[in-house]
This record gives sequence, C-alpha cells and structure tokens, in this order.
Amino acid sequence: MSVADTVITVEQARKTYGGKGARGAAPALDGLDLTVARGTVHGVLGPNGAGKTTLVRILATLLRPDAGRIEVAGHDVVREAYAVRLRIGLLGQHAALDEELGGRQNLELFGRLHHLGARRARARAGELLERFDLTRTGRKAVSQYSGGMRRRLDLAASLITEPEVLFLDEPTTGLDPRGRAEVWQSVRSLVGGGTTVLLTTQYLEEADQLADRISVVDAGRVIADGTADELKAAVGGDRIDVVLRDAGQLGAASALLPAAPGAVTVDADRRLLSAPVTDRMAALTGVVRALAEAGIEAEDIALRRPTLDEVFLHLTGPGDRVEEPA
Ligand SMILES: Nc1ncnc2c1ncn2[C@@H]1O[C@H](COP(=O)(O)OP(=O)(O)OP(=O)(O)O)[C@@H](O)[C@H]1O
Ligand SMILES: [Mg+2]
Repeated sequence: MSVADTVITVEQARKTYGGKGARGAAPALDGLDLTVARGTVHGVLGPNGAGKTTLVRILATLLRPDAGRIEVAGHDVVREAYAVRLRIGLLGQHAALDEELGGRQNLELFGRLHHLGARRARARAGELLERFDLTRTGRKAVSQYSGGMRRRLDLAASLITEPEVLFLDEPTTGLDPRGRAEVWQSVRSLVGGGTTVLLTTQYLEEADQLADRISVVDAGRVIADGTADELKAAVGGDRIDVVLRDAGQLGAASALLPAAPGAVTVDADRRLLSAPVTDRMAALTGVVRALAEAGIEAEDIALRRPTLDEVFLHLTGPGDRVEEPA
C-alpha cells in the first residue's frame, strides 16, 4: 500500500484518562497501531472497554492523545485538528438528533450548522433522504422513528458535509436484526461512493460482513490484524463439527477427536462437539471410523472454517470480558 493510499495512520497511540501518570488508571490506549487504505471499510473489533470509542474520539479530534503519531486524510489530529475536522464525519455511539423535528428538518439544520447555506442544505438533505430510503417518513418527528430509521438518519447527518473519512462508533448496537441489515446496506453504499469508513463494533458478524480489514483490539492495543479470512486462518484453519444422536455419549466421543482435550468444545444442548483439525480429509475419515468402532452414532459430521467468534476467543483467551451489549 503506497503512502498516498493511506487515509488513516495511527502509530503507537497512547491515552490514559486523567493524565499520563494518573494513579491506578489503566491506559485506554496502550500503543495502538492502525493503517487504513482509501476507499475501504476498516473494522475495529473489541469487547466493552477495549478502547474503541477512545480511538474514534482521538481520530475525530474530540480528545487529545498523550502520545503517538496520528494522521487522518493527510493531517495531524493534534497540530492540524481543524483541517482534519473539515474532512471527516462522525456517527457517535450516542447521536444528537432533535427529537421534535422530522428527518428532513434535522438534516437541513445540520447542513446550516455546517455553513452550507439554505439552498445547498435543502438539496443535500433531499439527496441523503433519498439515498437512505427515508423519503417516506414525511413530517414524522424523529421521536417516532424506529431504531433502524433513526440510525439511518444519523448516518445521513454524518454525511452532510461529504466527508472523505467517516467514523462509525458501534453503528448497529441496540438494533434488531432488520434495523441492523438496513444500516449494513447503507454502509455498503457509502463505500461505493469513495468514502473511507472506520467502524467499531462488538459484533463479529458485523465486522465479517462489512470490513475489508479488521483490527482486533483488546485493552487498548491491536492484538490481531487482517482480513476476516486471514484472521480465521491464523487461528488454525478448519474445524470439524460432530452432532451426536445421544448427548450421553458426548464425553466418550470427544476423546476420539484428533485434538487436545482442551481444544474440543462441547455444546450439550445441540449434542455438538467441535475441534480444530490440521488435515481435513484425514480428520474426517479418522473420526467417522473411530465413532463407528466405538458404536457411537453421529447425526452429522462437517468440516468448516472457524467463525470470527472462535477467532476472537482464541485471541483474547478465555474469560468473561466479552459482554453482551446493552
Ligand atoms: N471519560 C472517561 N474517563 C475515564 N475513563 C474513561 C472515560 N472514557 C472511557 N474510559 C475508560 O477507558 C477505557 C476504554 O473505554 P472506551 O470507551 O474507549 O471503550 P470501548 O471499546 O468504546 O467500549 P464499549 O464497547 O463499551 O463502547 C475503559 O476502561 C473505560 O472505562
Ligand atoms: Mg465505545
């Protein structure tokens, strides 16, 4: 990737709330590195408290880093904050829309706040309502919008200024599957228009769906980086899933799988065993034979790639840090 194609550069970013030497405070960013290429969607994936919002706020010039070289669209976020602001859009975790106003009015207001001029603001609001399929909301106040509609309006508002780079901080947290799918569709259409997107998420599926590259963040640093496929491959390639007819035989069957006992996951409800494999065909034939010899009946045996959930667990280690979003 040539330097000209790099739109976001983060080198060794550090931030501790309450100041560098704040006593007892763990750093929110602890030497974080990140590079984002123009016209791509970059996913920042991490659990609660990983440092995602801190990173986005620093990139959007809302928060000063303690240290690091951080550039957005060719400008330093500290020394050239104004130049950065002219080139970015931000969709925060908690967005600011006027509840009493309708979608069109909100967008026109945002346009005026960004010095677009009345006519330009009106035209831009119209374009964005069209693009995010919000024209039929009419005069309905935002307070009556569904979650998905509201997030689409948030997205439209963050695009008023036609930003070169757009930051989306957990754009679909709290949405139902339908709202989520609507927002995904909108994000995909953005990239077609040339916008570079940095998106944070706790949803592995979301990063897998939208992001060209993914940085997995934990405790303020990147612990893995790559395409979804590369991350999956790094975790040890394929897995074998075995569904038994009789849950009572899960223990006996798990001992027959070609993996260390600790590497086998057991899902008793689904009568499912899952284990990493190195040689696909040898594992498949070996497991079929071993089960038959032990008289254990399988309902299904399948080889598959690991899910991003498994990748994430593998990278961050076992623990209770991955919480359900509120
Ligand atoms: N304003 C603040 N003052 C003090 N500490 C903060 C502040 N904001 C965040 N932190 C701390 O910094 C760390 C990183 O928080 P951050 O909000 O960046 O995480 P996150 O990845 O966005 O989490 P979430 O998924 O919950 O939004 C956490 O330990 C958090 O408690
Ligand atoms: Mg956050």
